Amino acid sequence: MADMRVHRALAQAGVASRRAAEKLVAEGRVTVNGQVATVGQVVRETDSIAVDGTPVRAEPIRTYMLNKPMGMVSTASDPEGRPTVLDPLPHDVRLYPIGRLDINTTGLLLVTNDGDLAHRLMHPRSKVPKTYEALVEGRVSSASVRALRNGIELDDGPTQPAKVDLLDRQAVGGTWLRIEITEGRNRQVRRMCEAVGHRVRRLARTGYGGLGLGRLKRGEFRMLSSGELASLEAQAGLRR
Ligand code: URA
Repeated sequence: MADMRVHRALAQAGVASRRAAEKLVAEGRVTVNGQVATVGQVVRETDSIAVDGTPVRAEPIRTYMLNKPMGMVSTASDPEGRPTVLDPLPHDVRLYPIGRLDINTTGLLLVTNDGDLAHRLMHPRSKVPKTYEALVEGRVSSASVRALRNGIELDDGPTQPAKVDLLDRQAVGGTWLRIEITEGRNRQVRRMCEAVGHRVRRLARTGYGGLGLGRLKRGEFRMLSSGELASLEAQAGLRR
């Protein structure tokens, strides 16, 4: 872990959000090597940090990309005992998915223990582009493509403009579309397509914030590179 400000180290250790951690520091409840910490103080990996006298164990920050297979739920645990997206990943730190893919959606899912990054990327204001490829029933007209692009009225409000490309109109089983949205509402792509009369048969996420799956096969995962992380952090408005 690189040198960083003490509130950020606390947030990364899962103690509190960055803002709440900064408040703890301002309130004089945080010590670094036994000395009361000051707001903005820079700490190193070897420093001992404590809150109200209780030592904080710094976890290494991990962010993975998973190519999610079908049938996995995007939660940390499932009351029905179904496989979760955390099952294939290492268990040395407490991870959670950044947003959700439906159980039957496959593809790119980021999983992290970096609370700040997850929180910022999932925030409606973040506007991180997410790209999907969808096989929808029937032949999609140009009018429907235009409607999807301009915004569709859903029961939770109109959708923001989207990028929509017709990939294959003659596909077996329907039409393949590529859809890029900057929101992340529940079942959004499925609902958008249904709103123009095309049920989604298959849905895969192929991109997130400019990152792609590359050679990652279904069910495989990898750590993000430092360049990929820096790009996501910049999009999330995090300066480190
Ligand atoms: N939109 C959906 O409808 N489902 C997903 O899993 C992701 C986006």
